[in-house]
Amino acid sequence: MPFASEQVQSVASQQLSKAETIKLRNKHIGQACKLFYRSDPLKIVRGQGQYMFDEEGVRYLDCINNVAHVGHCHPEVVRAGALQMATISTNNRFLHDELVQCGRTLTSKMPPSLSVCFFVNSGSEANDLALRLARNYTKRQDVITLDHAYHGHLQSVMEISPYKFNQPGGAKKPDYVHVAPCPDIYGGQFTDKLYPNADLGALYAQPIADICERQLAKGQGVAAFIAESLQSCGGQILPPAGYFQAAYQAVRRTGGVCIADEVQVGFGRVGSHYWAFETQGVVPDIVCVAKPMGNGHPVGAVVTTPEIAQAFHDTGIAYFNTYGGNPVSCAIANAVMRIIDEEQLQQNAQQLGEYLLRECSQLKQEFESVGDVRGMGLFVGIEMVSDRETRSPDTQAAHWLVNRMKQLHKVLISSDGPNDNVIKLKPPMCFNHENADEFLLAFRECLTTLRQEQLQARAMEAATAAAAAAADAAATATNGVIATAAETLANKTKLFERQDRLIKSV
Ligand SMILES: Cc1ncc(COP(=O)(O)O)c(C=O)c1O
Repeated sequence: MPFASEQVQSVASQQLSKAETIKLRNKHIGQACKLFYRSDPLKIVRGQGQYMFDEEGVRYLDCINNVAHVGHCHPEVVRAGALQMATISTNNRFLHDELVQCGRTLTSKMPPSLSVCFFVNSGSEANDLALRLARNYTKRQDVITLDHAYHGHLQSVMEISPYKFNQPGGAKKPDYVHVAPCPDIYGGQFTDKLYPNADLGALYAQPIADICERQLAKGQGVAAFIAESLQSCGGQILPPAGYFQAAYQAVRRTGGVCIADEVQVGFGRVGSHYWAFETQGVVPDIVCVAKPMGNGHPVGAVVTTPEIAQAFHDTGIAYFNTYGGNPVSCAIANAVMRIIDEEQLQQNAQQLGEYLLRECSQLKQEFESVGDVRGMGLFVGIEMVSDRETRSPDTQAAHWLVNRMKQLHKVLISSDGPNDNVIKLKPPMCFNHENADEFLLAFRECLTTLRQEQLQARAMEAATAAAAAAADAAATATNGVIATAAETLANKTKLFERQDRLIKSV
């Protein structure tokens, strides 16, 4: 392990108590920057592989960090970055081998038509640039995005992120942004339950075709359709077969281009393919990558066709990005892509993903509260419901699980989706069989306890209702009955207060 002694010293020299860190953060860091586990946030001081360690040395199994793709602080990534940092870090207006090698390796993983790269520093920047490329190429403004999508924090991409603008304090959606339904076949507009024999891919693609035709008839057309190949913020959504083919066809037929946001799901995470768009058999016109590309270092890229890149060049306005494509970022990205291949992490994602899905599906058989289990590779969603029949989301249960997994089992999971009831797993790709079993054992315990708590709550509710009914029916109710009802009510209130406390602590 490089720098091992320095690392130990660095951890030991953390001089602030957790309480002091929280105090300083509250004072100097914008409160809009929200913490995980708000009432008892984690102070993480060190990471290694699929584990993170807090200031007391407690080890957490990390099931949520898809950024630390090849593992936290992978020694080869650290070495590549440190060596390049110690050699030269400058901008991409000088020739450098790491930059061109990064472009070559990245495009070698893409379909042949996607051969030109622009390097950026984040997923937001990648999507922002993708919109510029698309608008310049088509000379149009309008964009189709999916409901619940998140594409980043810049103004341009917040405008195409219903996940943000649909929140109570969100900005108004601009007229040139069109929202198509999220292709969620479990809880969306067209479900496999409501339309058991329908072609759901075609059903979900139709609104996209309708928007394209409508905008064309207005003389405006659509510049781009942007979508995550598997939607993460939407609740780990796997679009139905044929969806992207039909959607891309409709967009291209009317002169638009197709952008795949692979910021979360790229670089082998889905196991069967290197890119998630490949699972649907489509070739986008523009692909945006970031997060896992730098394993924690800020680097991203936009990969596109020579035609789209040429049209951008033809504007005569040079594209310059101070840090995008600097040798340190590129050395790191090169190391990440090399490690994915050398350590066969894509294959690992496929094998472990199959195992996790199988075992989680078994949990679904055993626990009524698990409504759906879906995923690909190390991208798994477990949807919590209060009623299997109606598929009603159980947000409280999801929050309760996230919290208990952390507090009791030291396993980090998260929840997301429009109802925040989908448990998300997207661990570092070095996640192993033992880790999967650790997660499964802990999750089973939580589901068992959840079921007991829910049964208890229901019993109390029933008892309270019965007592109240009895009291109503008998005008001659004794003080004793009233006292029992009051006691039951007090117990129930206590239980709900406790649940509420747990939820707020997430
Ligand atoms: C799908 C997707 N696109 C884009 C972004 C923005 O990336 P960044 O935070 O690196 O700007 C995110 C971030 O979470 C994302 O999930």
